[in-house]
Amino acid sequence: MSKEVKRYLVTAALPYANGPVHIGHLAGCYLPADIYVRFLKEKGKDVVFICGSDEHGVPITIKAKKEGITPQQVVDKYDGIMKNAFKEFGIDFSYYGRTSSKTHHDTAQEFFKTLYDKGVFKEEITQQYFDVDANQFLADRYITGTCPRCGNPNAYGDQCEKCGTALSPTDLINPKSALSGNVPVLKDTKNWFLPMGEIQQTEQFQQYIKRFENWKSNIKGQCNSWLNEGLQNRAMTRDLDWGVPVPIEGADGKVLYVWFDAPIGYISATKEFFEKGNSDSVEGPWIKWWQDDETALVHFIGKDNIVFHAIIFPMMLMTHGEYILPSNVPANEFLNLEGDKISTSRNWAVWLHEYLIDFPERQDELRYVLTSIAPETKDSEFTWKDYQTRVNSELVSIFGNFVNRVLVLCDKYYGGIVPSVSGNYTDEKLVAASSLCSDQVQKNLQEMNENLEVIKLRDALSNFINVARAGNKFLADTEPWKLIKTDEESVKKILFDALQICAKLAIASKPFLPHTAGKLTSMLNLNNLNWNQLNEETILNFGHQLGKAEILYKQVEDEEINKQLIRLDEIKKANSQQAPITQSLQELKPHIHYEDFEKLDLRVGKVVEAEKVPKADKLLKLTVDLGFEKRTILSGIAEYYQPEELLGKLVTVVANLAPRKIRGIESQGMLLMAGNDFGKLFSVGPDQDIEPGSVVK
Ligand code: MF3
Ligand code: ZN
Repeated sequence: MSKEVKRYLVTAALPYANGPVHIGHLAGCYLPADIYVRFLKEKGKDVVFICGSDEHGVPITIKAKKEGITPQQVVDKYDGIMKNAFKEFGIDFSYYGRTSSKTHHDTAQEFFKTLYDKGVFKEEITQQYFDVDANQFLADRYITGTCPRCGNPNAYGDQCEKCGTALSPTDLINPKSALSGNVPVLKDTKNWFLPMGEIQQTEQFQQYIKRFENWKSNIKGQCNSWLNEGLQNRAMTRDLDWGVPVPIEGADGKVLYVWFDAPIGYISATKEFFEKGNSDSVEGPWIKWWQDDETALVHFIGKDNIVFHAIIFPMMLMTHGEYILPSNVPANEFLNLEGDKISTSRNWAVWLHEYLIDFPERQDELRYVLTSIAPETKDSEFTWKDYQTRVNSELVSIFGNFVNRVLVLCDKYYGGIVPSVSGNYTDEKLVAASSLCSDQVQKNLQEMNENLEVIKLRDALSNFINVARAGNKFLADTEPWKLIKTDEESVKKILFDALQICAKLAIASKPFLPHTAGKLTSMLNLNNLNWNQLNEETILNFGHQLGKAEILYKQVEDEEINKQLIRLDEIKKANSQQAPITQSLQELKPHIHYEDFEKLDLRVGKVVEAEKVPKADKLLKLTVDLGFEKRTILSGIAEYYQPEELLGKLVTVVANLAPRKIRGIESQGMLLMAGNDFGKLFSVGPDQDIEPGSVVK
């Protein structure tokens, strides 16, 4: 990145085509990417904005099985739904591709082959679970069993969703195939690994990670913690029948790891854009956009994608040799909804296609609210009440109201023609109001520009609304509707100045609120507004005929909000009713003998220290005194206990559980907890004060 930037290739994470898009997706990456791209274009930069459907991976095959259709049918369905939702909200991709396309399969295979021929991969034989009846290897998600840490009988091969522990399939007790319910067998299989540990040590990678210094701190932090732990090699091929076939001999029945093929989707979509897209405004060929170091590559993503975009994909690009590396990876945190994590499986979301049914003309309102609460530096929260407040008290009362008053007054006094003005204000009060207003307008426009440049979009949007706020205040301070009776000349100047602010708002709203910008531009009867005019004093000249005034935003009524809240309430009820049913279905385990029980060494322990584990929402790190020694124990109870509550508590410890490393910390035992799969967990301890170390039998 030493060279000057000539063009920007901006990407937004390819969404999995296994479900519709919700507000969390929009706020997390598509909206910020779109605003940034629109801004760059306004500045006259050459930009290509790439996205598409991520159509491979296990979740899609699971969805297909659930719905009784083929994976291809699943992706065909959601590709259309997603594409349309993005379009409705004005997310203006240069090209929206899909990873099932032929160009993509070819590109991904070529890429793999290049790395293979260069000897980048390590070939390794590992043992993996195989379902004999289904005659196939089982992806991690296709194996369920009992979690070795918390005893949840429905843990997955990659993770126990109850205690949050990351697992590998062989950790599960009593593993079962989700395909047939059979006990799977272990079988040898060969796969190709990216030697991430080795690549990490290379000079080139060390040079590359210097870029992190200028990135947002959430990304830097996550990446550095991985790098400090040391990267593990990762298989780039999988035993699966849905995906891009591995293009080498001896790899029958294997496909590329979805996280290998998906980011290559950015490249193949760029190719398709130049081959068959609407690429007249920028110069090809595609290769310039990927292999010339005057291109800035910028990946917009959500925080769960950081490692793949900031470390793994760059390693792939680097070992390939011909590609540029990302200049920036602006990742957002998560958006929550009404006090709870957004969840597709619990239907806890505001789906874009449903929003469009209830609020067919309110795309920009959602863009506005989601940008003003964007989870740029930490998780944030969407509530319907807050949506209503922001729309009504900012868009309606400030921006919309200002524009409307100006246009209506101009229509009334001058028949919609920009009035002529001569000289300056003479009245002291008007002079003061006008200079206050123009200072505010210029200051906020300048800060808005600076904030857009560094992708601080929340701040930029608040600068934008401050411009309207300043205009609104100017009208309130000068009261042209009263002044008209005594000082017609000054009123002309007030409205002339206010019209210039309206024009600036029309320009400045383009990145954030494209539908509004279009409306306002036609209300002002302008075209070819450009960003540089933000610095000009006069945009609307004397004699210009204005268009017809319309209302920019309608008030959001209580009933509209209540309807949404009722819907969410019903979902919550339905979700909680499921819990007891599942609970009562939890089967009694088969008999064991006393000797089996005797193998457990259960002891009373006293919690003497407790703290949260950074970046692990569910884990607490405890120091437990067993009388004869102190142990570090990690427990998945952070959602149920504050660390302080536990201090001094007597608990029951499985004291002879083999130690396990979790998040780099060795856990030397486990606490007994009572609870169902959904509610709170309660720690189980003696009901009287008793010496730590006492045996529980
Ligand atoms: N499909 C992934 C997700 O939704 C994102 C893929 S981004 C890409 O989390 F880089 F791989 F394309
Ligand atoms: Zn568990």
